Amino acid sequence: MSSKVPVITVDGPSGGGKGTLSLMLAKKLGWHFLDSGALYRVLALAAIRHSVALDNHEALAVLAAHLDVIFKHDPQEILLEGQIVTMAIRTEECGGAASQVAAIPAVRTALLERQRAFLEAPGLVADGRDMGTVIFPAADLKIFLEATALERAKRRQLQLKQQGIDVSLDGLFVEIEKRDERDKQRSVSPLVPAHDAIVIDTTQMPIEKVFETVMAHVNERISIKT
Ligand code: DC
Repeated sequence: MSSKVPVITVDGPSGGGKGTLSLMLAKKLGWHFLDSGALYRVLALAAIRHSVALDNHEALAVLAAHLDVIFKHDPQEILLEGQIVTMAIRTEECGGAASQVAAIPAVRTALLERQRAFLEAPGLVADGRDMGTVIFPAADLKIFLEATALERAKRRQLQLKQQGIDVSLDGLFVEIEKRDERDKQRSVSPLVPAHDAIVIDTTQMPIEKVFETVMAHVNERISIKT
């Protein structure tokens, strides 16, 4: 019997439901969880705080290689240089900056092994853009979640509203389209489904239904050791 640690990759654009689905899967299976987007966001925040220009590729790659980041459990917190940044990395500004630093090949190389190090028994759910194509190409199950840009903008608006922040749908829509375009067009690890990924359009699907659909694939493909 293989002793390989199983991996499920969940890729797709922001707002497709990746984060929620990945957390539900990790919780249900009792597996580890990699939020790779958070890693790019932490790097972007470190660059902003250390006044490193977002077009200074060399300095950003060095920053990425030495990034002092800790993903803590119970309670779940993200620490940059010992400071809690769990909420600070979730701003639109940080998301935009993350998308810029993520387009730099040397930055992606610097973060590659750090992401693979999350793979530990009993299993890993990896959430991102290139989990199934680049980081874990031999994953046991690859999911790619899509939704229209308008639906994703609506979800983001609702999420912000729940945090007491009112923003226009038009502005969010434009911002989401711009970020998608940059993530799809970049030369390294562009946002595309792996050839063997299961693509699910979540535009009209509640998250519980998405979870149910994916769990059916999990049960079919992966033998869970208990
Ligand atoms: O999923 P997110 O919005 O937290 O990701 C922030 C940015 O990081 C996003 O614009 C794309 C980038 N990213 C990436 O290039 N590769 C990943 N594996 C995860 C995120």
